[in-house]
Amino acid sequence: MSGNGTNLQRIAEYFANNPDVEIVNVVCNNPQAYAIERAKNLGIPVRMVGKTEFNTPEFTQEMADLNLDLIVLAGFLWKVPASLIQAYPRKIVNIHPALLPNYGGKGFYGEHVHEAVVAAKEPFSGITIHYVNEVYDSGEIILQAYVTLSEDETPDSLAAKIHKLEQAYFPVTIQQLLFWS
Ligand code: GRF
Repeated sequence: MSGNGTNLQRIAEYFANNPDVEIVNVVCNNPQAYAIERAKNLGIPVRMVGKTEFNTPEFTQEMADLNLDLIVLAGFLWKVPASLIQAYPRKIVNIHPALLPNYGGKGFYGEHVHEAVVAAKEPFSGITIHYVNEVYDSGEIILQAYVTLSEDETPDSLAAKIHKLEQAYFPVTIQQLLFWS
């Protein structure tokens, strides 16, 4: 988590009545993130981490010891160290607010993505849920969902459309990965 935590909120609510799913930890790198408040309200422990610690073997080991079924990145902006990716092959997923491979990679996050899509007058945008590998936004794609841009689309209006897609598709995709794959 680095930010608002709307995906966290939605995912937690989606699985709230499912005894087979436990969100063990919210790992957060930004002390200002509203996601922290949300996690507290949801009763989920928060593990704050700084950049140096995040990249240590000890942090990877701590995560490995949790023996997680899935690590979900939702608005997490740092590159995940190779050691952590290797500890959890095909078990770390990210959601990106555009149709990868376009509008992905370093610098394409948050409103920057929607500004670029609108500026290019793209007919479509959407979301990409993908596995995380060593290169930003380039892991194997699990699911994409599309929206059409209107003539008068703005970055803000597009962000709202994308947000709805995220809310609709991320929890169910997580469920699929956990139980139906
Ligand atoms: C989402 O738009 C997601 O696609 C991107 O970061 C944003 C996170 O929003 N990776 P939130 O913190 O879940 O509200």
